[in-house]
Amino acid sequence: MKLSPRLLAGAAGLLLTPAAYAEASARRIAVIGAGAAGASTAYHLRQFADADGVAVNITLFEKTGHIGGRTLTAHAFNDPHQPVELGASIFVEINEILWNAAADFSLPLQPAGGFDDDAALLGIWDGDRFVYTQDDRSSGWWNIVRLLWTYGTAPYRANKLMQATIQRFLELYKTPYFPFRSLTTRAYELELTFVTSQTGQQFLDANNVGARFSHDIVQASTRVNYASNLARIHGLDAMVALAPSGASQIRGGNWQIFDSMARASGADLRVNTSVGHLDKVPGTDPPSTKYTVKTTDAAGVEAEKEFDNVVLALPFQFSGIEAGDGVLQNAIDEIPYVQLHVTLFSSPLQFSAEFFGLPAGSKNVPTTVLTTLADDDDDQGSSGADGSGKAGFFSISTLRRVVNPNTLREEYLYKIFSPEAVTPAFLSDLFGVDVPDTFVDDTTELPVISWYYPHIFHSYPKALPRVTFQDPVVGDGLYYTSGIESFISTMETSALMGKNVARLIVDDIQGLTTGGAVLMESGEKDGKETIYVESEKNQKVAGEL
Ligand SMILES: Cc1cc2nc3c(=O)[nH]c(=O)nc-3n(C[C@H](O)[C@H](O)[C@H](O)COP(=O)(O)OP(=O)(O)OC[C@H]3O[C@@H](n4cnc5c(N)ncnc54)[C@H](O)[C@@H]3O)c2cc1C
Ligand SMILES: *[C@@H]1O[C@H](CO)[C@@H](O)[C@H](O)[C@H]1NC(C)=O
Ligand SMILES: *[C@@H]1O[C@H](CO)[C@@H](O)[C@H](O)[C@H]1NC(C)=O
Repeated sequence: MKLSPRLLAGAAGLLLTPAAYAEASARRIAVIGAGAAGASTAYHLRQFADADGVAVNITLFEKTGHIGGRTLTAHAFNDPHQPVELGASIFVEINEILWNAAADFSLPLQPAGGFDDDAALLGIWDGDRFVYTQDDRSSGWWNIVRLLWTYGTAPYRANKLMQATIQRFLELYKTPYFPFRSLTTRAYELELTFVTSQTGQQFLDANNVGARFSHDIVQASTRVNYASNLARIHGLDAMVALAPSGASQIRGGNWQIFDSMARASGADLRVNTSVGHLDKVPGTDPPSTKYTVKTTDAAGVEAEKEFDNVVLALPFQFSGIEAGDGVLQNAIDEIPYVQLHVTLFSSPLQFSAEFFGLPAGSKNVPTTVLTTLADDDDDQGSSGADGSGKAGFFSISTLRRVVNPNTLREEYLYKIFSPEAVTPAFLSDLFGVDVPDTFVDDTTELPVISWYYPHIFHSYPKALPRVTFQDPVVGDGLYYTSGIESFISTMETSALMGKNVARLIVDDIQGLTTGGAVLMESGEKDGKETIYVESEKNQKVAGEL
């Protein structure tokens, strides 16, 4: 029997304490996946529900033992005092969800990027030669004077284009664009479909950004950020890769943002708990649709629980979740993802000049090497070994100096992004010494590689141009966050989609139909073709076509 809220309220006076009544009537919401998207969903669900006086009971399921997903931290020498980002490492000030959370949770920010050392030098290598180098310490990307001298007005134009594009994207945070039931519609309304429908190369060419600058600098950034060449990534991700200055990270690890969000949500946190099946309870329809979530914990114990709403906060294709009949009313498309090798290691050695074609003993070997294609590389490969070109890897960075706790000698901490596993032969060439087949040889007193930590990710989608994106509502009371990854893949955008889904759920519980937009009319305004849409808040919004 289904009890109506009114009946329950009546009964509550007689039988239940207020707390017991609140518990019995609370909407039970399962969030599956505790990465940026799932943690943000839970956190914002709590905030929106409390603000509107809606009772929610949230359970957050996470397969692994840690919160953060692809935002995860390793520890050099397995020493807890030497954290180093293995996954998502930087965010910027306009990432307001992350930035505000860092402040709200008093998490310490530190500048990310440049190797903070007098000898720091950034070089962009094409497999034959360095096409560009600059002092890595002073400025990061926009060392304007130096760039202007080499590339004319191209850096200025690229910067303006990036700023204008990002400004449009930021509208997605505000009414009437927030919340949204269709990302495809919003992308269109904000004229961002125009940007995602082109390759980064086409977008820059159409905006008269010089070809040399695009090839050398912008492409180095799309390769280090998205393991993709400029001709194989859409314009929006290319602009995001050129992110504004001020790159930051949380001291001790960015995962702490999501861990803090998950805890602040008051959700029942079920780590080491993998969801295997999602089924609809027969005979339940909106607005009281119910789902059964089947889980397996680390000890192999299976469990099953009912929920009113479910949020899939993970790339569905890698989740191993089986959805029963009638669950997914909109099929979730499979998306090609980049397979990226991230290799962290420490060594007392520095790069050999000869590896990069510089004279032996050269003093000016870059400490961070980004890459671009060589002039004779075929630029049709997107990612994977073909796309990496003659250079063979996307980036090699000197992160910082570290002290090896076993020998107390000072060493360097390195990170490599590559399409294939790093081999001892490659490292032998890079450092100009013999690296043993096992990488770390514990039997020698002073190993060449003293700590070695390789990892493979399905890091982000291969962002080929596209104009449709998986929408966040995929069934009755069933929501999906990862569609936004084909639009922009960052911690912040996943967190934004989590916040959006949280808003939609709390509105749906209250019977509000927010998140849509209605095309009212189209016409001319100031000589430009314009469409008018009406938002849920009854505002008339104009957009140029
Ligand atoms: C090497 C690398 C570098 C990056 N650099 C940056 C960067 O500098 N800045 C930036 O903003 N972004 C960066 N990104 C992208 C960023 O990490 C992602 O866009 C973002 O973290 C995605 O978050 P998510 O919550 O959507 O997905 P995920 O982080 O993948 O979270 C999904 C969660 O679901 C869990 N899960 C999966 N299956 C199940 C199941 N069956 N049951 C229960 N739980 C399950 C997973 O364990 C995981 O915790 C980088 C990514 C990589 C890999
Ligand atoms: C949430 O629901 C579970 C049962 O599914 C219950 O044990 C728990 O006490 C509830 N939590 C709150 C805060 O109501
Ligand atoms: C999760 O599993 C890991 C590995 O088995 C274990 O070390 C960790 O303590 C577990 N965490 C919790 C909260 O059970």
